[in-house]
Amino acid sequence: MKSTRIALVSSELAPFAKTGGLADVAAGLSRYLRTAGHDVRLFLPLYRSIREGGWPLEPSKHVPEIELSFGSRTYTFSISTTPLPAPDGSIARRAPYVHLVDCPALFDRPGIYTQDGDEPLRFALLSRAAIETCQRMQWAPDVFHLNDWHTGLLPLTLRTLYAWDRLFEQTRTVMTIHNIGYQGVFDVSVLEELGLMDQRRHLDQDDLREGKVNFLKTGLLHADAITTVSRRYAEEIQTPEYGMGLDGILRRRKDVLHGIVNGIDYGDWNPETDTLIPHRYTADDLEGKRDNKRALLESFSLAFDERVPVLGIVSRLTHQKGFDLLPVVLPVLLQREDLRVLVLGSGEASHEEYFQWLRDTWPTKVGIYRGYDNDLAHRIEAGADMFLMPSRYEPCGLNQMYSLKYGTVPIVRRTGGLADTVEPFDSATGEGTGFLFDAFESEALHAALREALGVWQEPETWARLVKNGMAQDFSWERQGPLYEALYEALTTPPG
Ligand code: ADP
Ligand code: GLC
Repeated sequence: MKSTRIALVSSELAPFAKTGGLADVAAGLSRYLRTAGHDVRLFLPLYRSIREGGWPLEPSKHVPEIELSFGSRTYTFSISTTPLPAPDGSIARRAPYVHLVDCPALFDRPGIYTQDGDEPLRFALLSRAAIETCQRMQWAPDVFHLNDWHTGLLPLTLRTLYAWDRLFEQTRTVMTIHNIGYQGVFDVSVLEELGLMDQRRHLDQDDLREGKVNFLKTGLLHADAITTVSRRYAEEIQTPEYGMGLDGILRRRKDVLHGIVNGIDYGDWNPETDTLIPHRYTADDLEGKRDNKRALLESFSLAFDERVPVLGIVSRLTHQKGFDLLPVVLPVLLQREDLRVLVLGSGEASHEEYFQWLRDTWPTKVGIYRGYDNDLAHRIEAGADMFLMPSRYEPCGLNQMYSLKYGTVPIVRRTGGLADTVEPFDSATGEGTGFLFDAFESEALHAALREALGVWQEPETWARLVKNGMAQDFSWERQGPLYEALYEALTTPPG
């Protein structure tokens, strides 16, 4: 396979800036591509947390100070580079380089995302800075790989503002949808601020009439190829139920829409090597898993009993994740069954308060940690017996794949990537890796949980189920080649 020059632009990248799976995927895919021999350069804002994070930042000599005009305003940015570390923190000889866009006026703020009035400008600048940096480096990417609404303006910007530059003549754009629930919709007045008044005819005309601009939709209109992070989600988003208003354009562009399931980084998430868990273990020797369960329960001041199952949750607590199904189901289960529920999450107050109420009502059965804690996420994956993801929609989901690797049986709604990666367990044949339910209804979830608790009562059958899951392979070595094939198809001239 030929070596491809890939510029990957993203608002998140682990370990530098993360709120969810996008950060892991941007990092894992880039490392894979670099190892496979491609020239990968990453573009990410230099957020305050990165500046203060003690990373080795090297000012780029190609890009000292560049002025960029947006409407009547001018911003200055420069670029610092740093290698993307391996999951264990070491720097591989073939580490991809991250180009951090240093624009303090826009990125020196407390969070990654803000509610500030200039949010669209922050990410419009990211796109233009990526293009301008390629110009200064005289480096022509074969592909700009863009991720979510934050990067949605790049294809249009490249083909209009930078159309004069022959450097990009052969460059193709790929727009990946990680989450259609966030589209970057702003008031049309933003066009003036972004200096895009002359580009109005290239934008969605219905939106303009309604007085708005949609970054993600703009990306979907102008990218050469569109991908999303599972096969099932690629189908779902073409329907009104899941398309969140973009199903029409996705149906129109279905010939260039591809579903590619995310890979996961087993260098980061593997119970055999994970240094963030107290005891390491393998599929052939699960003693360590039992010890992790004991340690995990102790850390929540809950009693350990090998025969009492632990149900884990690690999640952003948002509408997407479907936890509003729980209030009808969990109290009934906690009343009747001996069961432990451990929750790590943060997000909407109503969800946080609900889990707190659950904890206060069943203090010997429920544990909750409100917040973000990567170490605890690993310890829950290792110490729980079952893992719950009742998502309303789930483009891919990473935690169910981590769970499989840790022998923690996923109980999930059959949607998006959850449907592509968890196979229903059949106790008659011993095949399958988890428990699924279809309708987004409490009763359907309840049935799946009861089924799981039923199989838990049969230790030998459960052991088989755990083994099936641990044998699954969702590595980037398997998923990465699908992106390589897409890049190759895009950049190979027809005929
Ligand atoms: P999403 O991107 O929609 O949040 P994913 O399943 O793709 O869902 O990825 C979530 C990632 O964020 C996983 O790596 C998960 O471990 C991590 N995560 C989510 N919430 C927390 C939390 N409260 N503490 C630590 N890690 C979390
Ligand atoms: C999104 C989705 C999640 C997916 C992740 C990485 O945040 O909600 O399902 O795994 O992006 O692609």
